[in-house]
Amino acid sequence: MTNMRVIPDAAAYGQAVEDAVKAAAAYYAGGDSALDDDAYDRLLREIAVYEEAHPEQVLPESPSGKVAGGAAVGDVPHTVAMLSLDNVFSAEQFASWTASVERRIGRPVTAWSVEPKLDGLAIAARYRDGRLTQLITRGDGTAGEDVSHGIGIIEGLPQQLAEPLTLEVRGEVLMTTAQFEQANTVRTEHGGDPFANPRSAAAGSLRAKDRAYTVAMTFFGYGMLPLADTPDALAERLRSAPHSELMHRVGELGVHTADATDVPGRTVPTPAEVQNRIEEIAGLRAALPFGIDGIVIKADLAADQQEAGFGSRAPRWAIAYKLPAVEKITTLIAVEWNVGRTGVIAPRAELAPVEIDGSTVSYATLHNPADITRRDLRLGDQVMVYKAGDIIPRIEAPVAHLRTGNEQPITFPETCPQCGSGIDTSEQRWRCERGRNCHLVAALTYAAGRDQLDIEGLGASRVVQLVEGGLVSDIADLFTLTAEQLLALERMGSTSTDNLLTAIEQAKTQPLNRVLCALGVRGTGRSMSRRIARHFATMDAIRGADADAMQQVEGIGSEKAPVIVAELTELADVIDKLVSAGVNMTEPGATPPAADGEGQDEPATTAGPLDGMTVVVTGAMTGQLESLSRNQMNELIERAGGKSSSSVSKRTSLVVAGEGAGSKRAKAEDLGVTLTTPDDFATLVADLLP
Ligand code: IVH
Repeated sequence: MTNMRVIPDAAAYGQAVEDAVKAAAAYYAGGDSALDDDAYDRLLREIAVYEEAHPEQVLPESPSGKVAGGAAVGDVPHTVAMLSLDNVFSAEQFASWTASVERRIGRPVTAWSVEPKLDGLAIAARYRDGRLTQLITRGDGTAGEDVSHGIGIIEGLPQQLAEPLTLEVRGEVLMTTAQFEQANTVRTEHGGDPFANPRSAAAGSLRAKDRAYTVAMTFFGYGMLPLADTPDALAERLRSAPHSELMHRVGELGVHTADATDVPGRTVPTPAEVQNRIEEIAGLRAALPFGIDGIVIKADLAADQQEAGFGSRAPRWAIAYKLPAVEKITTLIAVEWNVGRTGVIAPRAELAPVEIDGSTVSYATLHNPADITRRDLRLGDQVMVYKAGDIIPRIEAPVAHLRTGNEQPITFPETCPQCGSGIDTSEQRWRCERGRNCHLVAALTYAAGRDQLDIEGLGASRVVQLVEGGLVSDIADLFTLTAEQLLALERMGSTSTDNLLTAIEQAKTQPLNRVLCALGVRGTGRSMSRRIARHFATMDAIRGADADAMQQVEGIGSEKAPVIVAELTELADVIDKLVSAGVNMTEPGATPPAADGEGQDEPATTAGPLDGMTVVVTGAMTGQLESLSRNQMNELIERAGGKSSSSVSKRTSLVVAGEGAGSKRAKAEDLGVTLTTPDDFATLVADLLP
């Protein structure tokens, strides 16, 4: 961790303690903290360093050594103290921690359990004769707050266990990303400030008793222990079973655990294998639908745990391996409005640059104006920004209590920022009234691109010349350009002219899916264009499809279908012009669906080496595949009878993992999906290579 500050004197120490106490109170009560997790952890360590050097100055309210930083209180005693965990931040620190545990017990730990550290708040759920009777927060570790009003509203925490047992399940309540989005929508609709992040949203929502609305949360069990009135035999079994077995039982009883996710708990024999699993989980983090802030490693056997024992704040047999923070607070400086190739006007947030997860973040997506309104964002706001792996950074919400009153409303454009025309605001995504004609240069540059019509020599600057010279007003005009017209352009000699005309001529033979993609139909990118083209096989069949027929294509739902149909109607003239110019309008290898619309849901695919397989490509391709773009790889897969996909799941048949493959390879290994190298894959599809 970076930027540790040395606290210089008693006054600075006093201030640091005050800041930490305030932040801890906000954190555990579900309020918004002025410090992000990283800054809070750092402050605690600065305080600890100062206290070590000046033990006589330690303030009684100091958060050091206290569960929950001393913030939380409650009046329901815990049967067994609900402790916190100590942290490590690197492989080296982890290795020295395991060594210290093994020194303490005088032998190697028999087995280690490795599981995700869920980023929510700890809850004890008491079951009597299988019925959920009480929910208690961690509080100060010895007593917590009764939040039993949460019974029945937390997903994964059943009101009835599969067996009539008396025991306590401990775990974390959190909001998944989707639940968080939903919670903030509901909350702002009721006039509340949005929550800054899923953790404070879960904490705030759980502790709120009489709200007019309820929001969804999810429980993840991570422990099980006896209650005072648990029968002796069961109590003994709960105390002596390995952690991994208890977790298995928790799942069997009907409680949700990490085992039901993409990052299940694992038991491994050595610290080296623990480290491997840590790296796997870290690699999967960005793709998870819920937040984790680290990995928890526990000695699996009860005997090992007993020998290692407990400290005052945390057990000595478990540790949290913290992952770099993926959330930071920064300032929203401005909002830019950019017009895309289809005329969609998209807002983008400019942020005070902040380092997150190893890279500097200066921009974040904002989707659409409704999204800004829903999040109640203002210029100058302190905002919680989330970024993980290579995902596009996003603003979770403003940290409402940090507002100074000087924040300014975000002004929405009244006319198109590109061309000054009116704006169609009838849908969530605003669009210039001139649609794809607004930003013709962007639309044509995209159409000519490598993965669409692949017209070499037609880059953005050439397109600007064509548009400014009035030679083209839509993509069909490209196909009627003449040598005289091109020769009249600046920096255009006879060789370049010939080459460009040849490339354009060649583009006429591109398969239908690329032509469709080049048209820039809203809601259809490359893979959707391929699916539509394969399904309908000809442009005539596509144009003949109504919304119902369009919905037969995988991935097109009731919202998207009418938009695509309307777009195609809007493009009728351009498509007619393309047909007259001799552009291919059929998809090789595909047959049109039967005329009555019945009977053939799936287009006939040519039998190929990947028949019926779902294939994911990740990492850099090498060897024969080196020059293929991701789109060309996907086309290749589909030519070979397979289905291309961008995410790995249980249904994936094969993952082609090239150099530098990261989380998708890890996930494939985890799920036992077959992996192959670019070279082996090239051999498999050798007959179909371009
Ligand atoms: S075990 C005595 N396992 O992290 C062992 N805790 O920073 C105590 N947490 O208080 C907890 N995921 O609220 C455990 N898989 C997991 C966890 C987990 C998240 C939370 C828990 C704990 C805090 C410590």
